[in-house]
Amino acid sequence: MIELAFSILAADFAHLADEIAAAERGGGTIVHVDVMDGHFVPNITFGPPVVKAIRPITKLPLDCHLMIENPDAFIPEFAEAGADMISVHQEVCRHLYRTLQLIEQYKVQPAVVINPATPVETLVEVLPMVHHVLVMSVNPGFGGQQFLPLALDKIALLAELRETMGLNFRIEVDGGVAHDTVASVVEAGADMLVAGSAVFSPGKTTKNARELLKVARAAAPTAARERAVVTNRTSGAKAPKQMKALRHG
Ligand code: DX5
Ligand code: ZN
Repeated sequence: MIELAFSILAADFAHLADEIAAAERGGGTIVHVDVMDGHFVPNITFGPPVVKAIRPITKLPLDCHLMIENPDAFIPEFAEAGADMISVHQEVCRHLYRTLQLIEQYKVQPAVVINPATPVETLVEVLPMVHHVLVMSVNPGFGGQQFLPLALDKIALLAELRETMGLNFRIEVDGGVAHDTVASVVEAGADMLVAGSAVFSPGKTTKNARELLKVARAAAPTAARERAVVTNRTSGAKAPKQMKALRHG
């Protein structure tokens, strides 16, 4: 199932409730909340009070993307504020397994994020415990950046690993997802699409969301067919071998 996780970073903060409603009318089904601390990334955005304020104004799940140092210290507050999913960056978690367990303890869906320079292989041990993996397709910190195509191979590798390891985590992509890039990420295997600047625009948000989803869903059948071919060709391979095979063609 292809879903649009609209990033409120690009919304008009003075009218957040209306902005969320407009994106939802366009078919958006997840509210993506970009939390930045000015340390891990060079920008500051929202904290738990904003999540708490959004919670009663929408029934959609709140997907909190923590771009912060020391996420363990804030996970309880985000959970209590109403987060449905919390994703943490692999790069800041010295004990990633423990951090994901902590998120689970708060009955929130745990997820892990990798920056453009971080390889998928660093996640193999935690894939069985995550709701989704978020692949950054820009350097985190700002909306409106250009899509980095290196994300495509990483998405495809994750889709392969999901098959060969018999798992069902979802694959989310974040950064530069727009009308001209969305088909390629869906074809690679992404099914949770984060988009901010391609969705929010005064008076056009509903239409933008609808059109983005339309392009994404049109690419979906091709994606499923192509993955089935790859899986049949390589079935039986164990995950590490699979990764080696992918790396060396
Ligand atoms: C970047 C954030 C993204 C960002 C996406 O650090 O994680 O969610 O808001 O914005 P666009 O869709 O404008 O690239
Ligand atoms: Zn994000």
